[in-house]
Amino acid sequence: MKRIPDHDPDLIQAALDAREKAYVPYSKFRVGAALLDDRDRLFTGCNIENASYGATCCAERTAIFKAVSEGAKTIRRLAVVCDQAGPCMPCGICRQVMAEFAGADFELLAASPDGSYRRFSLDELLPDRFGLSAES
Ligand code: THU
Repeated sequence: MKRIPDHDPDLIQAALDAREKAYVPYSKFRVGAALLDDRDRLFTGCNIENASYGATCCAERTAIFKAVSEGAKTIRRLAVVCDQAGPCMPCGICRQVMAEFAGADFELLAASPDGSYRRFSLDELLPDRFGLSAES
């Protein structure tokens, strides 16, 4: 866990750095993610594949699970970048996991390897989503 300034290019650079750690012997498709929690703590993740393909964990979920396991409650911003040009869009399972921990002003930065990116709200990523109140 490190702290970095609240600056989008820095978060994308952290995702690019995390992508270098991707364990992808099967797909050869690297993905990196970096998030800031509501205390401006930085967590990163990469995709981690498995010979039993279904056991693979996406980069976004690696970062989110690292954060939550270290006490993070709310995600403010998450950057994701993969090996293809154009914004890297998260899969449906990762969108649902983001929904669980996203703060009110959550933003996804879907980045390209060149550092360009598009910004998405949770409503754009997962409208009419399933959810249960954690209070009940
Ligand atoms: N992958 C991610 O890391 N994030 C996504 O949102 C979609 C897919 C990974 C899983 C697998 O290692 C590779 O990309 C190809 O599906």
